[in-house]
Amino acid sequence: MAQDGSPVGLYRAFPAGREPELINGAVPPAVPILELGCGAGRITHELTALGHHVVAVDQSAEMLAHVRTGTPVHADIEVLALTERFPAVVLASYLVNTIVPGQRDAFLNTCHRHVTDGGVVLVQRTSPAWAAALKAGHTVRSDRMVVTITEARLEAGVLHAAQECRQGDTTWTHAWTDVVYSNREFEDVVAESGFALVRWLDPDQEWAVLQPLPR
Ligand SMILES: C[S@@+](CC[C@H](N)C(=O)[O-])C[C@H]1O[C@@H](n2cnc3c(N)ncnc32)[C@H](O)[C@@H]1O
Repeated sequence: MAQDGSPVGLYRAFPAGREPELINGAVPPAVPILELGCGAGRITHELTALGHHVVAVDQSAEMLAHVRTGTPVHADIEVLALTERFPAVVLASYLVNTIVPGQRDAFLNTCHRHVTDGGVVLVQRTSPAWAAALKAGHTVRSDRMVVTITEARLEAGVLHAAQECRQGDTTWTHAWTDVVYSNREFEDVVAESGFALVRWLDPDQEWAVLQPLPR
């Protein structure tokens, strides 16, 4: 289990889904990518296969032990200070929706410190429409994984949720809490960290493309 409560086995088994292609389509071919919170390399491995060199950062040594490609870096995102800057930085997995005070801005500041002037930061946030519609009992299949929502409460802009993920004989449970931002709030949040929201990558408006404002 990672410090943030993510089960390692779950993120090893979870299919990569649409994320690698979305990211690949938003960046130039074969660019170095900084991936923050890479987990067990679910997205990292696919980005490598698509031709990118990925510097993959995570605070969980247990997760990082499964990253087979790119350059793994064991670090807290908040204090990351690499000497290199990247044309593409990825902050996936709704880390930007953290409820920990100060952590969201620390994550975005790390993105800002590490992106080149003309580069992009790709952030996956919790969609407010998805959060509002989420109900206990919802079931989604992703390849061989069956995900059932066991708790979903949206109160005062905060989503309290839990899911049960089953593959074959193995079941993982995962609970999380997200601060949910409207589009307007999200634009304001990223602007405070020195970014412009350029566009959404997907119809669900989960994936935002950010560019650093002139420094
Ligand atoms: C839900 S998992 C997702 C992993 C990966 N992005 C994926 O989609 O498969 C979130 C990951 O972010 C990492 N993480 C959370 N907070 C972090 C922090 N402050 N610094 C570094 N890693 C962090 C966790 O250790 C975990 O591996």
